[in-house]
Amino acid sequence: MPESTQPEIVPFSARIRTATERQHADAENSTFMSDMLGGGLGVEAFYRYTAQLWHVYEALEAYSDALAHDPVAGPFVRPELARVAHLEDDLAHLGGANWRAELEPLPSTAAYAARVRECAQQWPAGYVAHHYTRYLGDLSGGQVVRGTAEKLWQLPKRGAGVRFYVFDQIPNPAAFKREYRELLDALAVDELERQRVLGECQRAFDFNSAMFRELAAEFPIRRRG
Ligand code: HEM
Repeated sequence: MPESTQPEIVPFSARIRTATERQHADAENSTFMSDMLGGGLGVEAFYRYTAQLWHVYEALEAYSDALAHDPVAGPFVRPELARVAHLEDDLAHLGGANWRAELEPLPSTAAYAARVRECAQQWPAGYVAHHYTRYLGDLSGGQVVRGTAEKLWQLPKRGAGVRFYVFDQIPNPAAFKREYRELLDALAVDELERQRVLGECQRAFDFNSAMFRELAAEFPIRRRG
């Protein structure tokens, strides 16, 4: 068996998924997500969470034009993914006219957005790690969050409040994700850089977990026992 071909056998997209599997389960089962999606929190928690996402996507999308022709990050920058305008609609619906004044980022959110900006400016492959962690998640588990939020807080289906989760211009998310994974597999960097990207994906998940911890502290629910 020729060992030299070994690293090529596992596609990079599958390596990323494996490298972040445990963290994904942790995020999914985090106290804040469980409390919020389990019906233990009011719509104000969802509003606060949505405001945190605004900072993250504002950072991700502020560099779309600058990175559009970058050989590494460029192929991932797609207008149909853009979320900031949708987040702003949702925040206006959830928070009312004053939403901009209430955008205050949690410390973890501020650190997360700062790291995204740093990558966008200095390390396009690192930016891809952040892009993957958010957008592929939104196209997947984000749909679970949307359905639950609509039911819990009587938000219009696919309407104001949950527009962030609605990708009108991506009619076939499964096909889109397949193509996205092909782009990851073809990422124009060498093996050493791929390993750094894997590390940055894990860091991206860590930022999300830190945000969930701070949100859980801000929205505690009384526990039994
Ligand atoms: C309640 C919370 C969550 C649920 C229910 C959930 C659920 C899921 C599901 C079912 C998939 C698999 C989709 C598929 O195989 O095509 C998925 C994929 C994914 N999720 Fe989540 N997720 C949650 C939270 C998160 C969070 C917080 C992040 C990170 C910010 C995240 C990032 C991802 C990513 C990057 C993928 C794509 C994995 C891949 O195929 O490479 N998810 N999620």
